[in-house]
Formats: sequence, C-alpha cells, structure tokens
Amino acid sequence: MSPEEALRPDWMDFERDHVWHPYASMQNPAPVYAVRRAEGVELELEDGRHVIDGMASWWCAIHGYNVPQLNAAIERQLHSMSHVMFGGLTHEPAARLAERLLELAPAGMQHVFFADSGSVSVEVAIKMALQYWQAQKQHGKTRLLTIRHGYHGDTFGAMGVCDPVSGMHHLFAGMLSSNYFADAPTAHTDADWDDGQIESFRALIEAHHAEIAAVIIEPLVQGAGGMRMYAPEFLRRVRALCDEFSVLLIVDEIATGFGRTGTMFACEQAGISPDIMCVGKALTGGYMTLAAVLTTAEVCRGVHADGGVLMHGPTFMANPLACAVALASIDLLLAGDWQQRVRAIEWQLLEELAECRQMEGVADVRVMGAIGVVEMKEPVDMARVQDIALEAGVWLRPFGRLIYAMPPYVITPAQLSRVTGAMRMAAAYCE
Ligand SMILES: Cc1ncc(COP(=O)(O)O)c(C=O)c1O
Repeated sequence: MSPEEALRPDWMDFERDHVWHPYASMQNPAPVYAVRRAEGVELELEDGRHVIDGMASWWCAIHGYNVPQLNAAIERQLHSMSHVMFGGLTHEPAARLAERLLELAPAGMQHVFFADSGSVSVEVAIKMALQYWQAQKQHGKTRLLTIRHGYHGDTFGAMGVCDPVSGMHHLFAGMLSSNYFADAPTAHTDADWDDGQIESFRALIEAHHAEIAAVIIEPLVQGAGGMRMYAPEFLRRVRALCDEFSVLLIVDEIATGFGRTGTMFACEQAGISPDIMCVGKALTGGYMTLAAVLTTAEVCRGVHADGGVLMHGPTFMANPLACAVALASIDLLLAGDWQQRVRAIEWQLLEELAECRQMEGVADVRVMGAIGVVEMKEPVDMARVQDIALEAGVWLRPFGRLIYAMPPYVITPAQLSRVTGAMRMAAAYCE
C-alpha cells in the first residue's frame, strides 16, 4: 500500500461509488479531496495537508471556518430549538434577522421571505413578480428579461434565466420558460461607458415590455456565468428603463451580497434600489444553507391585490439555526473593519495578479473587491489546476477558462500571497 493509499479514509471508496458531486459524472468521477476539519482560512485534508481556501466555499465563508462567535450562536439556538415549521408558527431568530436585513438593504425594502437556498430564492422572486402582475389582471406579463452570461441557480425557473449558451438550456430545451436575453455590457467601469452598452437591452424592453414581468440581473459581477464585471452605469440604466416601461427589477445579490464587491450590496455602487432582491451564500457566513427574498411595500401590495397569497412555503423555511447564525454573521461583519479588509484584498489581488497580464495564454485579469479573476484564452484542465494549487498549499476550483479566487475576508496578506502565487502558477501551466 502506498503512503497516499494508507492515508485514504476507508469511507472514500464507498463515497466515490455512490455519492454524486456538483456537475459531476458518477461513472467517471473527477478527483475529490476529503476534508477533515476547517479552521480560520485553512482546510485540513484527510491526508494531513493544510491548504488555504481561496474559494470561501463558493463565496460563503466570509469569516473563515470554525468561528467562535458563529459556533456559539448555533449552540445557543440548538438548546432552545433547531427547527419548527414556519406555517402558523414563528420565532425570534427569524424576526431579528429580517429586521437586520431590512436595516442593511437598499432603501425601500420592507418585507422578507426566507428560502432554503439561493436557487429557491430566485424561484420565489420570479413568483413574486409573476403574481404581482397576475393579481393586477395584467395577464400578458409572464416573461423575464435578463442579460447574457448570467447565472441564477440550477432549479427550473432559475435555469431559464441563466446564459442560454453556457447554461443548461440545450439540455432542457423545450422545458425551460422562454425569456429574453440582452447583450451583457462590456464596459468594466463607468469610465469605459458608452450608450451602445445598453442598446440591446433597451431594444428588448421597448419592444416586449407588455410581456415582461421582471428583469433579473446580477449586480456588477456575473459569477458562475463567466466571472464578468461591469459598469454601475449599466445598472442605473436598467433601473431607469424598468421604471419607464413598468417592469419590476429583481437584483440577485446571492454572490455579491455582504461586502464581496466592497459595498454591503453591489447595487449600492450604482445608487439604485431594486423592487425585489435575493440574498444567500454569505448570509450565514457559510455555516448553513439559507437565502432570503426582500421586497418593497409596493410589490407586496401588488401580490395581494386580488386577495391572493404568495404561493410558496418550504418545509425548512426560516430554519431557526440558520437564522441565528446568519444574525451572528452579520453582527460579526458589522463589528469589524470589513470594508478596509476587502479594499486591502482588492489592492493585493490587483498588484499580485498583474503579471499574469503579460502571459501569452491569458485573455484578461480582473478584480473587484475580494474577487480576483484570471481568464485564460483556452479552457483550463480543472483537475490539473486543482493539483497545482494544492501542491502550493491552496484550494482553488477553476471552471471553463477561469482561474479565480474569492477568499474569506479574514485572510492575511501572507496567506493571500500564497493564493495569488498559486493562481499565477496555474496560469503559467495553462499557457
Ligand atoms: C448569483 C447567483 N444566484 C443564484 C445562485 C444559486 O444559489 P444556490 O447554489 O444556493 O442555489 C448562485 C450560486 O452560485 C449565484 O452565484
């Protein structure tokens, strides 16, 4: 038996044969690494290696792992109740979390619906918009408008507004709702802005507003659809056009929320408020699955205009453990200097990834807040890049042509240098 095999936990063979992983083949499984513990910004693998988590568990673990304040919040809550149904019952963690979210959210948000994952919150947001128009007898408004390269989740309503090329439209052709897709902006900042950026969007909303219930968009950063970053002016124009043509605006802050782009919510950088907003991921500091849909008094009134109710009610709605840890996570964020930390991460990412621009195989390097992206010209070998990063003591999970990182905000400059070093090594390998 090789030393690696000796360190391999005995459950791994069963796991490999029976447990599915995200976007993975069960028949020809890609390598997965077993994690024993996580502490601070480090994952401890079953083979004894300690690696720095460059991914914050897909945007979530903003405070890192095994955080005493978050552990304590869950433990406290566990002793009173871990869960009760939310139909006909309520509890303090949900009320307090809703209050905190509405305090922090862009102006105008008044009501909160708790959902159990980001994708489900997108479904709920879409239902809110559809029911809003139905209740007002505007039965023609049944479609959505979005931009290309978006990602909003893997459930059916959400898949219907993901990028029609890189998303799963071809797999589920004929089964997804039929929506409108405008060109995504290419201007990275307002300094690059020209009015041509909004033309495709304007043309679609002008022509089809009578059929469009809502626009749904990721503010400033398009995540899993390509890690693209765009100018706040685009969002301002989208808001203005939604107002002009009586279309609701859903902002999907699931990835960007809770400071990731440098402001609490990305749409603050455009100075706009949505009609409906989804949050998730970092909401619980990455401890548990929870998402929320926030909306205005006007949308809420509209949904109930015909005396009906919002038709959604998940079993684990407003799970008390998740609400308690979310509240603790937000309090921990607010008690610290998160803005300075995110700004410092941004500067360091800019400085340390800059040399990738000179590499022949690199198409673009972009940074916003605590998000750093190296886009290659060709698709990367995911398994090989993971290995290269692990050898450098870092956990990265590239996809498509993208090598990227969005670390916990508590990462130290020395740890972040290891992450950017691994990204540079991976980019050099992929050239
Ligand atoms: C912008 C955005 N919306 C929605 C989702 C879906 O969230 P979840 O994976 O929690 O269902 C994601 C997840 O990556 C996301 O980045």
